[in-house]
Amino acid sequence: MNTYDQWWRDSVIYQIYPLTFADSNGDGMGDLQGIIQRLDYLNDGQSEHQTSLGIDAIWLCPIYPSPMVDNGYDVSHYTDIHPHLGTLADFDVLLQEAHQRDIKVILDLVINHTSDQHDWFAESRTSQDNPKADWYIWQDPTEDEAVPNNWLSYLGGSGWTFEPQRQQYYFHTFSPHQPDLNWRHPAVKEAIYKVIRFWFDRGVDGFRLDASSAYSKDPAFRNNPLKFGKTDADNYDSYHHLYDKNLPDNHQIIADIRKVLDEYEHKVLIGETFIDNQLYDSVAFYGPDQGELDLAFSFELPFSPWYPGYLHRAIVKKERFVPDPAWPTHFLDNHDLPRHLSHWIDCSLCTDSAALAKAAATLLLTVRGTSVLYYGQELGMEDNLEIPPEQRQDTASSPDQKDGQSSRDGARTPMQWDSFTHAGFSFGKTVKPWLPVHRNAAEVNIEVEGQDPNSVLNFYRQLLWIRKQSDALRRGAWKSLIAYPHEHLAYTRTTDRETVLILINFSGAKEIDLGISCKSNRWRVLLSTELQIDKVVDIPETLKPFEVSILRQE
Ligand code: NOJ
Repeated sequence: MNTYDQWWRDSVIYQIYPLTFADSNGDGMGDLQGIIQRLDYLNDGQSEHQTSLGIDAIWLCPIYPSPMVDNGYDVSHYTDIHPHLGTLADFDVLLQEAHQRDIKVILDLVINHTSDQHDWFAESRTSQDNPKADWYIWQDPTEDEAVPNNWLSYLGGSGWTFEPQRQQYYFHTFSPHQPDLNWRHPAVKEAIYKVIRFWFDRGVDGFRLDASSAYSKDPAFRNNPLKFGKTDADNYDSYHHLYDKNLPDNHQIIADIRKVLDEYEHKVLIGETFIDNQLYDSVAFYGPDQGELDLAFSFELPFSPWYPGYLHRAIVKKERFVPDPAWPTHFLDNHDLPRHLSHWIDCSLCTDSAALAKAAATLLLTVRGTSVLYYGQELGMEDNLEIPPEQRQDTASSPDQKDGQSSRDGARTPMQWDSFTHAGFSFGKTVKPWLPVHRNAAEVNIEVEGQDPNSVLNFYRQLLWIRKQSDALRRGAWKSLIAYPHEHLAYTRTTDRETVLILINFSGAKEIDLGISCKSNRWRVLLSTELQIDKVVDIPETLKPFEVSILRQE
């Protein structure tokens, strides 16, 4: 396929957490109609003006029926919609309305495990010889009645739970309510392929594969070895996960899924490469001749501190290791992590979160690759750290509901649309929204920021717009102009016809000497926090605190 047919290469994907994006019926939970009503905000399909964000695709976190133990990542029916979110008919409208606006729709496909309430598991757990008996990973207890081996659950405790009806243990990478499917069983594969075809036949444009490195498990169920020097045998991170994830034959499972995708045209396959050695292992998921994923999520940027040296190294590594013609992808936030503003503000010695947000946005949207935004990031939304224990929803990662530290709820609070009830997320005055709105919502919201030319939102809009206009920013080669960045980044994106220079001062406190020289001294300002837009300038000698400037060579 010609790379220009691979629409995702040029795209900015916008991740929506449906439960907290927009509530159309006032029940306190986001829904599909709410998303439909807000599509114009994301992209109104009018490419000649910049009032909407102009994103190219939405990725919806799971929308299927689910008992919500892991807020949708525990699916109990793969080809339907959670009744709180709407119906299949609503989904068809969403697809149609999105496509009319040039927005592609990507679904989250959670197929490492199902909910324990899924019919498949309900049947599988009843006996050792029912038709679905081998659809999950079952093992006998050891001779002394203990768990089959030392595999742990990522969320804490043993990964094995005993099922009295079968007198056997089942394995779960995540919570006991999320039993892992047995990907060695041909009928399981066929059942999942059917699910994939169901959604493609409806018109979906691609999938994000949840936990896509954990499908295959060691058929001999060998114990994972402890890492050198680690003694805490109850800690997931103490182990080399040799036998419960990232097995070599996991790649074949993804390659087979890819074949189902290739029955259709222009579909994208993105994987959450849930592995220990982030970059090195995740690049393997593109597969030989790109026969696996189109985009592999790895976590170097969100795991870096706000320090140019680290971030520069992460980008250089991706540039070097993502094998051509495979395409890199970058994100700063998602529904499992603290929002970047909340964690980077601590390492930047600054209190101006808007300035930091603009600098971070510039980095994300000007490095080479597909960028993924997480809802509200474009406003400078921060984690809500004031969620009372009784209002927490993330019981999977924080089962006792007291541990605010490990709860992911803070980054999942309602989208901040305006300064009215529940920040415009829900009109239901008597209901509580799914999670409490952040206390900064009266100032940090779309309505207020929309009227302020210097807001984070308007900065994102302009940045997304210039990215759309510039081949160099979307496709051009990346080259750093500084070998060992310490205070700032300076890099170019270049095609045959266009060179764009990106300058970012990482310090919110200090003006710095830029210290670079370029052949040309005539640069047009595409976007800047300091320079006048559209003016032709020399390369600046210094950068003001948190200055960001994007210049195109004349
Ligand atoms: C990764 C998802 O991003 C996360 O939210 C979920 O809890 C686990 N996979 C289990 O599905």
